[in-house]
Amino acid sequence: MYKIAVLPCDGIGPEVMREGLKVLAVAAEKYDVKYETVDYPIGGDRYLKTGEIITDSEMDELAQMDTIYLGSVGHPDVHPGILEKGILLRLRFDFDQYVNLRPIKLYPGVETPIKDKGPEDIDFIVVRENTEDMYVGIGGSMKIDTPDEVATQTAVYTRKGTERIIRYAFELARKRAKNNTLCMVDKANVLTHGHDLWTRTYAQVGEEYPDIKQEHAFVDACCMWFVKNPEWFDVVVTTNMFGDIITDLGAMVQGGMGVAASGNINPNGVSMFEPIHGSAPKYTGQNVVCPIATIAAAGMMLDHLGETAAAAAIERALEEALASGKLGDLSTRSGIGTDAQGDLVASLVK
Ligand code: IPM
Ligand code: MN
Repeated sequence: MYKIAVLPCDGIGPEVMREGLKVLAVAAEKYDVKYETVDYPIGGDRYLKTGEIITDSEMDELAQMDTIYLGSVGHPDVHPGILEKGILLRLRFDFDQYVNLRPIKLYPGVETPIKDKGPEDIDFIVVRENTEDMYVGIGGSMKIDTPDEVATQTAVYTRKGTERIIRYAFELARKRAKNNTLCMVDKANVLTHGHDLWTRTYAQVGEEYPDIKQEHAFVDACCMWFVKNPEWFDVVVTTNMFGDIITDLGAMVQGGMGVAASGNINPNGVSMFEPIHGSAPKYTGQNVVCPIATIAAAGMMLDHLGETAAAAAIERALEEALASGKLGDLSTRSGIGTDAQGDLVASLVK
């Protein structure tokens, strides 16, 4: 019996989660996966009412879960950073979810803005480091709001953190067995301390993986190649900040934020699965957003739990639903309700 924490959080989170849970229930029923969910009313609304973000007792409970399923974080009435840091980054850091897995896969039937590229060209995965870099919150400000204001925001890289993410990416390249290629994305030509650590660690860990071809791209060039030659990529490993940025680009390459799912993974602890999109406040409650990313995140979650048959069923249903054209263009103007999209995928899983 799996215990799944459900954190819909803000904006469109609850709507897309409803569809994800709908599909999860059908897949679990069919493949005899036993689970229970525990709902947590964490998010901007509660914060505005009570000042609480995540309580200590909630953290203790979450630590006992098999996995966490999360909607989206961000509230228009809360200053940017409070909920992002207090919820999303807190969970990623405190549970040491050091891998942020972000598949960039163009499903047949989904339109990519990249001319002359199709599903056979766009199928790679970004392994984003998830606990270090500029995300650690080290820095400071002085003389705020004066012409002499100074602000620093420090990027932190550790040998341990760098090594474990690179090793995870090598293993994944082996497991995927696509092109047996790993590409590290960095900016070692400018960040000559931090990314020199990455460069040396990559070379050293790479010695253990002679079967994996080791490539390298500077982050600016990587952005060019994601668009120009997405077929070159198999597994990409990169830092937290660059991973954040290039996976939004990746999401567009794969047809939009509506389809991009992710997993925050601690291979030895509590992991968390979520769509990579935000809370899209202006669409809240309108039943117009695409739940595909959240449904795909449920598939990743099942796969992580070892429920590979149920995960594969969701993946097949997504492929079929998207190829059928019945989900329209996946935009908020598609005319196909969030609930109807979930219904279609659920019926195909069945
Ligand atoms: C993401 C988001 C988060 C990040 C924000 C909301 C803190 O953009 O998951 O990509 O920067 O990691
Ligand atoms: Mn992001």
